Amino acid sequence: MKIAVLYGGISGEREVSLSSGKGIINALKHNGHNVIGIDFNPDKMEEILNLDVDLVFIGLHGKFGEDGRIQGLLDMLEIPYVGSGVLASALAMDKAKAKQIFQTNNIPVAKSNAYKITQQTNLNEIIKSIESLYNTPFVIKPNREGSTLGLTIVNDIQDIEPALKNALTSDDTVLVEDFIKGKEVTVPVLGSYGKEKALPVIEIIPKNGFYDYESKYAPGGSEHIIPATVSMEVTEQLQTYAVLAHQLLGCKIYSRVDFIVTPENIPVILEVNTLPGMTPTSLFPDAAKAQGWTYEEMIEMFVNLTTK
Ligand code: DAL
Ligand code: MG
Repeated sequence: MKIAVLYGGISGEREVSLSSGKGIINALKHNGHNVIGIDFNPDKMEEILNLDVDLVFIGLHGKFGEDGRIQGLLDMLEIPYVGSGVLASALAMDKAKAKQIFQTNNIPVAKSNAYKITQQTNLNEIIKSIESLYNTPFVIKPNREGSTLGLTIVNDIQDIEPALKNALTSDDTVLVEDFIKGKEVTVPVLGSYGKEKALPVIEIIPKNGFYDYESKYAPGGSEHIIPATVSMEVTEQLQTYAVLAHQLLGCKIYSRVDFIVTPENIPVILEVNTLPGMTPTSLFPDAAKAQGWTYEEMIEMFVNLTTK
């Protein structure tokens, strides 16, 4: 099959996508496909408009890659692509909107408030509002971003302003959220539309105490425990919630759903990643490995689920 892989991109997760893209390209070549790799940026628009391929594999993460925009362009060009469409991608990228949907459907979420901040916004009023609603520690993060970029765990109210500024480097809307203590776990979801299944639950033990950018991507930055050290009952609950969250947003083919399991064994959903990382330290490929699939077999499964 002739497959174009879009990778790199212009989001904050560009470096991550360069690594995911390399893995995807090598796997597709290994599987015998005719592969064109495109390090995507707006200057490459002409190349996208003239693409003559059977399929696009989107290896991008974050803004313009994972948020429905590139998916819309490919829809207009009538080029099939692997993964979720416009609406599911946009909803999953917008954590506040996705959380409203999860909450309405009884998937536990952390208490949160979203603030849109413009030049006209009085930052002091926002800070006062946050102080009145949250007790430390709490989280301030960009509403639409990935890989924990722009995220601060606020331990002291003096840190609210720098935390807001940090989040605003990625998005004009910031999300303030209760910090949920517990086990950090994630559940890959895979399957054709309406028939998705959850893969084994992965527990993440970050080396430096918090699963930040460095522990996500530095080799040895975190340990992945598969299956997670939670009871069978909690595992089933996590897998049920993960498939439900994937379906509620209308995701397709694959996604990865992140949770915290509280000491009371309540799975609290954090977010759905519609284009989860495919790097050497990423989680989805590790769960696939635990299922007995090689990286190349996993990538081929995504292609087959899309085209067959
Ligand atoms: N946003 C990164 C790529 C992930 O969720 O794996
Ligand atoms: Mg993410």
